[in-house]
Amino acid sequence: MNGRQPVGRVPLRADLRAALPDAAAAVAVTAAVFLFLSFRMRSGTSATVAVMPFMDDPRTYWMYLLSQAFGWSGLLWAWGTVVLGLLLSGPRPGRPAVSRAALERWHRTTSLTTMALMLAHALMFAAELVRYEATMTWAARLWSAFADTFVPGWYDSGTGRTAIPIGQGALYLALPLGLLFYVRHRIGANTWRRLHRFVIVVYVLSVWHTLLYGTNVWYDGWPRTVLWLLQVPVAVLLLLRLVRPARRAERLEAPGRWTGASALGWTTRGAGRLAVAAVVVAVLAVVVSGHDGGRPRPAEPPATAPHDHDGE
Ligand code: HEM
Repeated sequence: MNGRQPVGRVPLRADLRAALPDAAAAVAVTAAVFLFLSFRMRSGTSATVAVMPFMDDPRTYWMYLLSQAFGWSGLLWAWGTVVLGLLLSGPRPGRPAVSRAALERWHRTTSLTTMALMLAHALMFAAELVRYEATMTWAARLWSAFADTFVPGWYDSGTGRTAIPIGQGALYLALPLGLLFYVRHRIGANTWRRLHRFVIVVYVLSVWHTLLYGTNVWYDGWPRTVLWLLQVPVAVLLLLRLVRPARRAERLEAPGRWTGASALGWTTRGAGRLAVAAVVVAVLAVVVSGHDGGRPRPAEPPATAPHDHDGE
């Protein structure tokens, strides 16, 4: 290293250091969620236990609870970093309350923390599987936990057959799309920008995975409602970002004033904006109507197999 960086180049190491306070806050939030979930298990109000009655023991299943807690902090940080990203790329306010440089810094540090939290969520799930399969040899336990957690299509029980590959998709896309920023000088700013916008797919997959598989949002009730409510600002900001992007070149000119864009390109981009407008309406309809896919909580505990979430 000669100490001189090209203009605009930010080394990963500097951002990792800058992310430390943010990561510390994320650990504190994870700990609070972990305590909350353990308390619900002890007090007999845990939705996880309602779905899987054999889990009624926070001392034995603490790694599962910690995995859930990392999942929630990961999702919260993903929400925050996506909101920051959309504020940066959407319409620019006349007199911003926070400088652009500060927003950019927060966006970068919160996205690094998000990746770490997602990974911790998956690793704690794998650790729980290693603990659980006590009758196997160590090699078999490690392999089966690794494959169930990280190999798409391997996990073959209940809703996890669909929900786990969706979570894996989010994780595996998040890492390259988040880290490409640090090799932007090699791949070119335009290529980076084109790829980075797909990061919204990571967020959508994360929310989908949670709504499908999270036992704490399995049944009707406030946790599931809050999760849906949080999607309203994201959907609205995404629509604003598409309709009034910060970069002039990304604006959709009125028909007849096209500058180089083909009719097909214009139609595709227009259709994309309409689709996001439809998503905003759909999310609002879910929140207002309360039809959010939550199941009614049964009076009797369902008969379930370990990690089989199909016990409705
Ligand atoms: C390798 C990838 C992943 C695996 C193997 C995985 C595994 C799981 C499992 C087994 C559950 C069910 C826990 C329960 O009983 O509630 C779950 C729930 C959840 N996951 Fe993931 N996940 C992955 C990726 C992700 C990602 C990328 C996110 C985004 C932050 C995420 C966020 C969540 C959340 C918030 C829950 C709900 C936990 C609860 O209900 O308390 N997961 N995941």
